[in-house]
Amino acid sequence: MNLANLLHGGDYNPEQWLDCPEVLQEDIELMKKGNINCVTLGVFSWSVLEPEEGCFCFDWLRDIIDELYGNGIFTVLATPTASMPHWMTAKYPEIMQVHADGKKNLPGKRHNFCYTSKKMREKARIIDSKLAEAFGKHPAVLLWHISNELGGNFGDGSCHCEECNLEFRLWLQEKYRTLDRLNQAWWTTFWSHRYTDWEQIHSPMPNGEILTHGLNLDWHRFVTHQMTGFCKWEIDSVREYSSFPVTTNFMYFFKPLNYYELHRCVDIVSWDSYPFWHKRKDEVPVAVKTAAAHSMMRSMKKAPFLLMESTPSCINWRAFNPVKRPHMHMLSSMQAVAHGSNSVQYFQWRKGRGAFEKFHGAVLDHKNKENTRTFLEVTQVGERLAKMSEKIAATCNRPKVAVIFDWENWWAVEDATGPIIDIDYVKTFLMHFRSFWEAGIDVDVINMEDDLKEYRIVAAPVNYLYKEKYAQKVEDFVRNGGSYITTYWSGVVNESDLCFTEKHPLQEVLGIRQEEIDAPGEEFRNEINYKGKAYPVGRLCEVVHAKTAEILTVYEKEYYKGSPAITRNYFGKGNAYYLAAEFGQEFLNLFYKERMLEKELVNPLASELPYGVTVSVREGEENLVFLQNFNDAEAVIHDVEAWVDADTGEQIEGEIKLSPFECRILVEK
Ligand code: GLA
Ligand code: ZN
Repeated sequence: MNLANLLHGGDYNPEQWLDCPEVLQEDIELMKKGNINCVTLGVFSWSVLEPEEGCFCFDWLRDIIDELYGNGIFTVLATPTASMPHWMTAKYPEIMQVHADGKKNLPGKRHNFCYTSKKMREKARIIDSKLAEAFGKHPAVLLWHISNELGGNFGDGSCHCEECNLEFRLWLQEKYRTLDRLNQAWWTTFWSHRYTDWEQIHSPMPNGEILTHGLNLDWHRFVTHQMTGFCKWEIDSVREYSSFPVTTNFMYFFKPLNYYELHRCVDIVSWDSYPFWHKRKDEVPVAVKTAAAHSMMRSMKKAPFLLMESTPSCINWRAFNPVKRPHMHMLSSMQAVAHGSNSVQYFQWRKGRGAFEKFHGAVLDHKNKENTRTFLEVTQVGERLAKMSEKIAATCNRPKVAVIFDWENWWAVEDATGPIIDIDYVKTFLMHFRSFWEAGIDVDVINMEDDLKEYRIVAAPVNYLYKEKYAQKVEDFVRNGGSYITTYWSGVVNESDLCFTEKHPLQEVLGIRQEEIDAPGEEFRNEINYKGKAYPVGRLCEVVHAKTAEILTVYEKEYYKGSPAITRNYFGKGNAYYLAAEFGQEFLNLFYKERMLEKELVNPLASELPYGVTVSVREGEENLVFLQNFNDAEAVIHDVEAWVDADTGEQIEGEIKLSPFECRILVEK
């Protein structure tokens, strides 16, 4: 087995059970029964690996890796830096993070160190290189798992200590060279905030400067730079002795850390997915969010990723924690695979007896063994992955549509004061993504630096900040035949958060002139009439003028009644749409359906999908069509051509039935 196979397994913490050899023996027996082929070891093992400074105990780990390997189970080996032993924090308090309120962390919890700290880096290098020396060529080890969820998860991971501030100033000097340039970029003459010495610059803190948007934006970039630097530091440490590929597990849409930057230093993207299934009866919003996150992970490298953690049953950290209903475990696991995951891994294998996560779902619980519904469903997932491994692992989704999600835009648009206080970039992005999900069309989730050439449609909702060269790239994309959709509150500022003057950077491509943006109170809300039907308009309405663009619909109310609400401009061989106002999901679905038709994009079943059902395609020698039903009820798709069920070989024609929470994999007949 190697990374060209689908992995099935998860976090395994045998160090919590070293005094119970019978438990460890039982683990291996049950792993085999559960079709587990891989575990992640060592994530939080620092205090067992190095119980005292400079004293290393790796024998237990070697025994376990060997024993697992002897039983056909491979290892993803983690560096243990995500939480620190008490001897370390006691001896080197300078390692502890300082929060934005100026308080220094006390020892405890995890992810609580300063990413800049030289001492932390020194200690990480020692333990990492020792581990690499010991296991960096071991035939059982597939992959290095660097630290764990960098920046997470009690706080935002940023540190405001003196060491970080010194480093921040150096980073700024490197970027701007002169204070004049920095003052210009941050517009510091406003409120008399000109800096005359680099020493005067401080990280944004609530009782200090947090209203200079340029500073905030650069601070966000710096935090990503530091965390990425820490990750690279660890990668270099294991590289001293080992050439195994590396990954680090990402979280969801985690604002403090720009994953489009971080992913560049790892070989494989992996992430931890904990959707809030069964929050409501309608699972679609959660399914959409999860699909978007999976798609983003795949889109970073345009390659399969790894689902590093998920729960086989429930989690324990939300206000209420529903257990996965029957079949949801198979469906959510296959959803990850459908979007490009080459693994289904769990947190965790066995529930610990004490501390914070003792009630977090695991494959094995406290009282039972293989005699549980969870265990059975895990076994079934493992069986299905093993059978389909060869077919699936070499394939990948190759969408023709991209929706832009960009961290820098996220930071800037939500930091801006005006036109509304609570712009929610993720939510808006998800609404645009959802229209494609409902239509059964795969989407790449890319950032502004990505290439656009391979797409037919690119959507960029609330694209407030424009990175250098972005406008030129979009212009080329449209000129060459692409269809570009953007919205109100786009093209407002440059990379320093300075407003563009004179015109929108894409004025010629969009064929419009922006005038002002209205954030009407509820009693002043607008509406449009599109193809004979009225649709409500949300909280933002831009007043724009069509120059070369044609007007597809206009506002129905207020002083801007009759002015364009949606425009289309033909430019070169393509076209560009401008949605001047915020619209609801119903209208967006209709609007995007038209765009897909225009670009001849239909889902592989070429049929209307029932609510809650979607399709993803992993392309390869044989395309695999993952049909997913997120309804807890049967769904039927009519008028379908001939297909073969890839799991069972059954031939299907005319109609396809999906049982509640079912995912079927189809291949063309
Ligand atoms: C994260 C962490 C794990 C565990 C799970 C619990 O993903 O990486 O160590 O805490 O959350 O949901
Ligand atoms: Zn620090």
